[in-house]
Amino acid sequence: MGEQLPIVAAPMAGGPSTPGFAIAVAEAGGLPFLAGGYKTAEALAAEIAEVRSSGRSFGVNLFVPGDTPVDAAAFSAYVEDLGEDAAAYGILLDPEPVSDDDGWSSKLELLLAAPVPVVSFTFGLPAVSDITALRRAGTTVWSSVTTVAEAALAERAGVDGLVVQGSDAGGHSAAFDPAGRAGSVDTAALVRSIRAGSALPIVAAGGVDGPDAVRRLLDAGAERVAVGTLLLRTDEAGTSAPHRAALADTAFTETAITRVFTGRPARALRNGFIDRHEPHAIDAYPAVHHLTRGMRQAAATAGDTDRLHLWAGTGWRRARSGPVGDVISWLAGLGE
Ligand SMILES: Cc1cc2nc3c(=O)[nH]c(=O)nc-3n(C[C@H](O)[C@H](O)[C@H](O)COP(=O)(O)O)c2cc1C
Repeated sequence: MGEQLPIVAAPMAGGPSTPGFAIAVAEAGGLPFLAGGYKTAEALAAEIAEVRSSGRSFGVNLFVPGDTPVDAAAFSAYVEDLGEDAAAYGILLDPEPVSDDDGWSSKLELLLAAPVPVVSFTFGLPAVSDITALRRAGTTVWSSVTTVAEAALAERAGVDGLVVQGSDAGGHSAAFDPAGRAGSVDTAALVRSIRAGSALPIVAAGGVDGPDAVRRLLDAGAERVAVGTLLLRTDEAGTSAPHRAALADTAFTETAITRVFTGRPARALRNGFIDRHEPHAIDAYPAVHHLTRGMRQAAATAGDTDRLHLWAGTGWRRARSGPVGDVISWLAGLGE
């Protein structure tokens, strides 16, 4: 695919994965991903055009929509629970659950009309016909999986490779079932289990804290290693200022898996919002994502890390600033 190193820059929706960041990753020899989640097909098309013009290989990640119904009573109770935090920014929460499919069909149409080298899916499997259509268009299709069972389903659906995400990964769990309990198997162990039953290429994702971790995941049976958190503080990443600051702030002492921000399990730096709301959190993605979005945007503008979703994997302490190319080289064992 053109890249020389076994390092993948994991897709990171919500800002970090900009086209400039992707091009810099590719120039350093890694395989970059654009994050299709939370943006329109038009915005994604513009990002693809920019990275394509660099002549480098890259991937695009999409969220697979689910159809889990929202429990109205549980949602109302959660709206009430969050009221004080929202009021801190003068926000009155919308008691009606909002649902959407993240522009699924238009993004798929875009990727079929102008195929990209790699497409990865998160939060589930698309229809077999969609996987087949992308592969016929010349795209390599990867599915993000978090269990041996999900890996078997993805393999049966005909994907070309598996992004094996362990419980130590930062950001959302890619689990197919949003209400499923968050897994507790770390990435290396999950790679070994899935490798034992599948010959598909594996990209290991989760918990990398340096070159030794990359080596261990390759030794466990992965062909490539995806890194998210360790790239968040790099110069080219579109990470928000408060998120960058929090990753370097010693006041944060641990990460936790939580549904408080979006209704899906995700690993984040543990802050006050998690502590206040975790006991009441509900399984309602994307309704909770939409519910808390305005408050989180206001918190980001105010630099309020107590109410922000500070996605971070267990290796966060070793996330460093500087050019992303230097971090990619370091992770690949080529530099300090
Ligand atoms: C800020 C952030 C945003 C993320 N957004 C996405 C996304 O849009 N799609 C996706 O498949 N995974 C997403 N992830 C998960 C990553 O793809 C990857 O699994 C994870 O970062 C690997 O673990 P690490 O952060 O410990 O390196 C995100 C992770 C982070 C930290």
